[in-house]
Order: sequence, then C-alpha cells, then structure tokens
Amino acid sequence: MQLEDELGDILQKARDGKSWSSGDLARITGLSEDDVQRIESYQWVPDDSVLLKLAEALTLNGPALINIAREQWVPQEPAIDPKFDLVCLKVFMGEYPVNCYLLRCKETGETAVVDTGANPKTIINKACNMGVRPNKILLTHAHPDHAGGLGELDSAFDCPTFIDHNEPKPRGSRNIKIVRDGDLIELGKLRIRCMETPGHTAGGVSYLINQTLISGDVIFAGSMGRANSSWNDLFNSITQKVLRLPDATGLHPGHGPSTTVGQEKEHNPFFVGRV
Ligand SMILES: [Fe+2]
Repeated sequence: MQLEDELGDILQKARDGKSWSSGDLARITGLSEDDVQRIESYQWVPDDSVLLKLAEALTLNGPALINIAREQWVPQEPAIDPKFDLVCLKVFMGEYPVNCYLLRCKETGETAVVDTGANPKTIINKACNMGVRPNKILLTHAHPDHAGGLGELDSAFDCPTFIDHNEPKPRGSRNIKIVRDGDLIELGKLRIRCMETPGHTAGGVSYLINQTLISGDVIFAGSMGRANSSWNDLFNSITQKVLRLPDATGLHPGHGPSTTVGQEKEHNPFFVGRV
C-alpha cells in the first residue's frame, strides 16, 4: 500500500501554506535551492537532521515527517460498518488512480455512486456485477478526475447528481441537486450528512455516513489535498471539521489509502498536535 503523497509533495504543500518559493525555503533552512528542488522532485531523501530542519521551518511534525520520508508508516484500514457496503473502485485517469465509491444500504440495497472518476464504464460494470442500480450520484467536487464521465452514468442510471452550492456544476447530469452544509440525503435506511470542507475547491463537500467520511481531496493519509481555492480554508476544514470527528471515524479519500481520524491525528505531519 502506497501513500498518495511522498516527502516532496508534503514539502511543496507546506511551502504553499506559507506562500514561500523553493528559494525562500532554502534561505530559511540553510540548504541550497538545488537541494530543495531535488528533495521536492523525489530525487533525494536527506538525513534526519535535514528533515527536522525542514519540518521546523514548515510547521510540520518532525518525527511524523521522518516516518513518511522513510516509508515507515501506512494506515490501518478503518473498521467496517455493518449497516452498509462501501466498495472502493480504483479508476484510472490516464496513469493517475482515483478512488470512486459504491455505497450500498445493506437493508434496502439502495446504492449511491460517490465520485465518478473519468471512467464511467468501470462503475457501470461494477454496479452490474453487484446487481445494483445506483439511484444517486454524490460528487465531492467537480474536478474532471472526480466528475468526468457523468453524462454516461446519468444515461445508465437516470438519477440525480448531488453537488455543493459553491461548486461549479459539472456537465452531463440532467438532474442536479444542490446541497449545503448539514443537509441530509437519504439512501435506504442510511442518512448521509453533507459536510462542507472547502479549500481544495471552493465548494468541496464530504459525505458522512455514521462513522464513515468520504472526503474527496481534502485530506490524504499522511498529507492534505492541494489547496486550489484556499490553503487556510483547507487547513481549517481539516482541523475544525474532519479531525473533530471521533477517532474511529473512517476517512475514505479521493486518492491513496483509507485511514482514520485517530491515525491522522497521530501520524500526519501537518496535523500532529494541531487539533
Ligand atoms: Fe480534485
């Protein structure tokens, strides 16, 4: 199991939070700019003393950063909720894997697709194999790797697509339903709570089902999403909402392995001691 982000990605995202160039980081840590660029482009993993210096400058947790740089930590899978099935489909957009989910209420069989990937055939085939016909599509955000191929799914399933009011409306759905923070969506006997988690995009939304959060590109195991709309909003979405959920809450991101709130509070270099 591989984490979505490596040392280089984490440093770039942390630097982004401070609006620093690689030259700024070099100056502050006493490294050369060439060294910073080699680390950020995955060509060099420096020794612990350099990693600790980088962590301190970037307000990252040093030991957690070292563990990830040395590939010494991967999360344990979250517990399974007996009320529903959550099937994660790894869909490829080019060479880039995206997590899409099929969520099925065990009692009624009612099923939702959460994010579409850019390869709707994979989802349609899986739904067919499972013997289900999804009647809702929930989007965490409208980026093409999460909402691409919506038209084909709309034709296959003829069902509404849910998206946050602050997010651009993706093409392809004939029936868009707008959600806001705190809205509840029924899926059989399940209640899905919409939790606005902006920052990766302005209208990013996560979906909470009991103690399971499908969170799109907000937080990754051991890292955070890229702050395309606002770094501070993204950091606050994570520290004030996502990581305030109970420790056992399962986090199912748009990329990389699933994790839990408790594990991220203990191992994610951005968030150790920040919640
Ligand atoms: Fe995204």
